[in-house]
Amino acid sequence: MNRVESLIGRMTLAEKLGQLTMTAAGFAVTGPFIAGDSTESIKDGTLGNLLNIFGADHIFKMQRLAVNESRLGIPLLFGLDVLHGHRILFPIPLGEASLFDCEAWFESARESAKEAAADGLAMTFAPMLDVARDPRWGRGAEGPGEDPWVGTRFAEAKVGGFQGTDLRQADALAAVAKHYCGYGAVTAGRDYASVDISERTLREVHLPPFAAAVGAGVAAVMPSFTDLAGIPMTANNEMLRGWLRGRLGFDGVIISDFNAIAELIRHGCAADLCEAATLALKAGVDIDMMSGAYRRGLPLALDKGLVAMAEIDECVRRVLTLKERLGLFEDPFARGASPESAAALAQRRQLARSIAARSIVMLKNDADALPLASSVRRLAVLGPLADAPAEMAGPWASAAVPGSPVSVLAGLSSALPQAEVVHAGGVAIDTEDGTGIAAALDRCDGADHIILCLGEAAAMSGEAASRARLDLPGVQRALAEAVFARARQAHLPVIVILFSGRPLAVPWLIEQAQAVLAAWFPGCEAGHAIADIVTGTVSPSGRTPVTWPRDAGQVPIFFGDRPSGRPFDARDRFTSKYLDVSNDPLFPFGFGLSYGRFVLSNLRISSGTAAEHDTLEICVDVSNSGSREAQETVFLFTRDALACISRPLLELKGFAKINLSPGESGTVSMSLKCSELRFLGVDLVSVFEPGDVEILVGPCADRAQLLAATVRLM
Ligand code: BGC
Repeated sequence: MNRVESLIGRMTLAEKLGQLTMTAAGFAVTGPFIAGDSTESIKDGTLGNLLNIFGADHIFKMQRLAVNESRLGIPLLFGLDVLHGHRILFPIPLGEASLFDCEAWFESARESAKEAAADGLAMTFAPMLDVARDPRWGRGAEGPGEDPWVGTRFAEAKVGGFQGTDLRQADALAAVAKHYCGYGAVTAGRDYASVDISERTLREVHLPPFAAAVGAGVAAVMPSFTDLAGIPMTANNEMLRGWLRGRLGFDGVIISDFNAIAELIRHGCAADLCEAATLALKAGVDIDMMSGAYRRGLPLALDKGLVAMAEIDECVRRVLTLKERLGLFEDPFARGASPESAAALAQRRQLARSIAARSIVMLKNDADALPLASSVRRLAVLGPLADAPAEMAGPWASAAVPGSPVSVLAGLSSALPQAEVVHAGGVAIDTEDGTGIAAALDRCDGADHIILCLGEAAAMSGEAASRARLDLPGVQRALAEAVFARARQAHLPVIVILFSGRPLAVPWLIEQAQAVLAAWFPGCEAGHAIADIVTGTVSPSGRTPVTWPRDAGQVPIFFGDRPSGRPFDARDRFTSKYLDVSNDPLFPFGFGLSYGRFVLSNLRISSGTAAEHDTLEICVDVSNSGSREAQETVFLFTRDALACISRPLLELKGFAKINLSPGESGTVSMSLKCSELRFLGVDLVSVFEPGDVEILVGPCADRAQLLAATVRLM
């Protein structure tokens, strides 16, 4: 008999339920403690998994209790939210999505895994794969943005990066694809609210990134807190057993979200922990994170005959198999055994800097206000985010040392040693106090450039951080308007650096600034990365992975909308529009400027006709008529204008990048497998329909900027 089966045969019920339980550890002055539990439960084998603990010393201490002192010696599994770095932080995932670069997505995950594993961890609750089309929802910051195709590429890259080539290796983490499924579609963008979307939207938009994660071999999946059309995901038999395990073939571990099993009671689907535990177990949830429902509810459920021991064993089997796959039985101390070298850490920081610089999206650059001329003498660096190192980390700061990221002020000061850099915050991020504005204006005296750092606090996105308004919090607008007025008088350019975990609807700001950089939350190398862009060491290349609204009233807003029977017509009242706000976004998906000037021409497709098994090669020429080397991102969309159902106005099918020197031209090629043109027909069965499909290639999802050609599908 193999190890897992022989263990199951020897385990008591309490020991089995211990393997199905994950509890949080916290840190007290004297070291880690286990919240609501005790180290005794590790020793008596009734606690098998811990979260929120890191550091090899702490982890080894707990692991020794499990391995040396518990009856069966089953090693503990340690997990943490390593979302965008561990101690060294990369940009928030939405910022990383702006790179449109699968290799970079992979690499930051690989590096994060190495670092977290060296800290003793074996699991990360990442990647977050929820497609998010409503920026009011704060958790959009944790994922890849609005598009399912981007989501699938992101999923593959992240799962591959975290897990490495073999989970058994000491630098591999088990990835957890979360939050399955549709969490991004919470009603009105309010966190934890109900989700009620069509089966078609679920399958076309929200499921594909999870299917991709399963295809990439993800070790675990976390159901979302929310219900889907009345059925909480934690108890959703059809979505977990039916879809995830049955149709997608997922045989890994399903781990509940924090306290989610007990919350089935508040959802109104379970009367008590016994019923809650029964529902979750029946749906296929293996590990109960934090609710204690399995340990407290399942013994009773067994007595009542609501669940069978075989069902419990099935979950235990999956958990032990994961521990085995992670190599924990062979060497429970492999992760954390050898500290990383200083050189490895320095290299990782360098990577974090380069990824952060590439995540920055330049939204405006009038009259080449950026990069700053090397003649800059006095720079006024203003605003509440100018000297805010802790905010640069973003909402999942993991194990980063608080306050350790490089601020904009520090980054610019070190990049411009010849210049005098003066600073004033002016206002706080989110208070009503504008008394510091006058002092900030004084700082503009004698300056030749103003850098204004505005935006949200890191805690305004992420979990439990929905915002009904998408504007600048507090009195930042008053500061900005005062600075713009002063700058106009003095003929000074104002460069705005905007920090946020979502696109902020600030058309008035974009109008008045000479240049605007959307920096998201860039992570620990924030200030250096921003300085690299501002000084021109790096040309901006980030592209917004979300359609950027001009007003909160437009959301949800996304490029993959379907056509209307009454499409927008300014002259006709009875067409699809608002009376008070334009339909157009402030910036389309994919938008982002660089220091180059790119022109796309000569779209070619390898064939004008194609069958399902064919692959089309799509080429376009790109030239840089600007005066600096820069990188262009080219997007490939399709449009199926006539089909058995109304198809989206644009569907993303690819992207590619090209670096060009001034005056240089090159060709970008992308492949399109025609099987990717299948879609769910009238009855939600996948079909490949003959007929014309438009191939559209260009710099963003603005139809007017796309080159088009038609392919006839046969
Ligand atoms: C979040 C998850 C996270 C978990 C553990 C929950 O509140 O929804 O995304 O992985 O906590 O930290």
